[in-house]
Amino acid sequence: MGHEITILIGTMTGTAELVSDELRGVLEAAGYHVVIEPMDDLTERVFSRDSTFLICTSTYGQGDVPDNAQAFFSCLEDTRPDLSHVQYGMIALGDRTYKTTYCGGGRRFDALLGELGATRLGDPLMHDASSGTLPEDVAAEWVKLWAGTWLAREAEVA
Ligand SMILES: Cc1cc2nc3c(=O)[nH]c(=O)nc-3n(C[C@H](O)[C@H](O)[C@H](O)COP(=O)(O)O)c2cc1C
Repeated sequence: MGHEITILIGTMTGTAELVSDELRGVLEAAGYHVVIEPMDDLTERVFSRDSTFLICTSTYGQGDVPDNAQAFFSCLEDTRPDLSHVQYGMIALGDRTYKTTYCGGGRRFDALLGELGATRLGDPLMHDASSGTLPEDVAAEWVKLWAGTWLAREAEVA
């Protein structure tokens, strides 16, 4: 079995799920083992997997995480687990017409995971729903580069 990548999905209307399905195809073709976990019902225990994580979340409300991610986010805020062993990539979905809250859901996760000691691999991908591009296409290209840069390098060092 190849290196495991767990994709954690925060979504309201399914776009992040669609993106994750596309990522699965790309990553499996590159030899990775992919696990997809919608954030509903997750707790900090998900981070005990021997895995690299991809957070794929949209944004709602005042730059908030979507409903299915609220309990997981609060759980991390409340239990404040030590995530210094965790490495993750970030895919934030949003819409620039929301200006100051653009991709706020992903930004909030990124800030919290950083506070808890996790290490982000590479720059976040932020997708703008009003850009005229399809998030699944943009994410598929981004993840090839992300995995090639961060995971391949890790495998060389290991
Ligand atoms: C009611 C509503 C509120 C939204 N609020 C924001 C926001 O504050 N900031 C942002 O960047 N995008 C916002 N968006 C855009 C969504 O995050 C974006 O369309 C995303 O691709 C939806 O992904 P999902 O289908 O996985 O939930 C909002 C969309 C809706 C419908």
